[in-house]
Amino acid sequence: MKKVGIIGGGAMGSGIAQVAATAGHDVILFDTKAEALNLSKSKLAKVMARLVEKEKLTFEVAEAIQGRISYADNLEAIAESGIIIEAIVENLDIKKSVFSSVEKLVSADCILASNTSSISIASIAAACEKSERVIGIHFFNPAPLMPLVEIIPAIQTSEAIATEARAIIDSWKKVTVLAKDTPGFIVNRVARPFYGEAIRILEEGVADIATIDWAMKEIGGFRMGPLELTDYIGHDVNYVVTETVFKEFFYDPRYKPSFSQKRLLEAGHLGRKSGHGFYDYSEGAVKPEPTIDIALGTKIVDRVVAMLINEAIDALFLNIASAKDIDLAMTKGVNYPKGLLAWADEKGLDTVLAQLEELYNDYCEDRYRPSPLLRKMVREQKNFFS
Ligand SMILES: NC(=O)c1ccc[n+]([C@@H]2O[C@H](COP(=O)([O-])OP(=O)(O)OC[C@H]3O[C@@H](n4cnc5c(N)ncnc54)[C@H](O)[C@@H]3O)[C@@H](O)[C@H]2O)c1
Repeated sequence: MKKVGIIGGGAMGSGIAQVAATAGHDVILFDTKAEALNLSKSKLAKVMARLVEKEKLTFEVAEAIQGRISYADNLEAIAESGIIIEAIVENLDIKKSVFSSVEKLVSADCILASNTSSISIASIAAACEKSERVIGIHFFNPAPLMPLVEIIPAIQTSEAIATEARAIIDSWKKVTVLAKDTPGFIVNRVARPFYGEAIRILEEGVADIATIDWAMKEIGGFRMGPLELTDYIGHDVNYVVTETVFKEFFYDPRYKPSFSQKRLLEAGHLGRKSGHGFYDYSEGAVKPEPTIDIALGTKIVDRVVAMLINEAIDALFLNIASAKDIDLAMTKGVNYPKGLLAWADEKGLDTVLAQLEELYNDYCEDRYRPSPLLRKMVREQKNFFS
């Protein structure tokens, strides 16, 4: 089994180290900060103790997992790795410099992967002489619990490396999907309207915060409402992802961020972690009650889901991933109640197109333009899976 080198011992690097060690690999976790390494080690010990307590792992297995991870504050320690996954700060220049240094240390057949959420893999690979061995391996947070991993070959990546990298992550019992090296890959692109359209509905005054979240959960079947989810993720993180996707798509209005979320960020109302976001989390705060109105709720869900479906169809249209992988990504990466393309089949593609056309005609905004593939499929009376 290949030795696994992890660069960056923060939230993601620590989680990925746990996953790799649980799968039986020896892991070397490198971070420039000793505190990060200490924290990573103590957090893993707590997680393992909890799993033993819940009888999910025996004491011996938990000890063995922890024993397989070594912690290093010098980069040379990862030289023997067969695969390296980088999970450091989201900054292209720093990532490039790390990849360039790492390449000089490791053997010629070592796979070099980045867990970046928003930087193009091609730009990171460009820092390496043997850029064909660089690939994106994008885990979701928390890595030990979220089943999905997006595998993102850059235009430089060789097919052999893509196949090998995917096989390794499959062997870690993860659900892998193959995504093109485009902004947001699959999940962070297709999910944008879940937040964006819900916030737009709020801004227009169609419904209040509690009613939008109620509708999306009770009628739409989503585990969390979009507004409470942005509070949970943190507006600093969620807004920045939206803004990055918008910029990376050369300012396509479809991904335009919202002022109300930007104001929350500017005010420091970051969500749960700061005690205030769309909701007030301070002690004694009264949770607002939704308006239980099925007609209004259905209107909200139809609008958000039509936008999500359109985004999924457009991702398929542009060959970002296969139909099967797009649906897997949204059910396994962000727990959607159904795959969006299967949902489109179920609703009827003509119905989805009519909903989008109504929005497009009402607003005359490019944001609501239906995907050319949706139009074509309706013309040809086709479905995605049946
Ligand atoms: N947090 C998420 O939800 C999430 C999900 C998927 C992907 N990602 C991506 O994973 C990466 C890491 O995110 P995170 O949330 O774990 O960040 P984090 O801030 O929790 O951890 C980053 C770690 O990298 C270390 N570090 C910084 N520069 C370094 C260097 N040059 N060499 C070695 N270590 C260095 C820091 O000390 C820190 O411990 C980012 O690229 C991010 O986009 C994050």
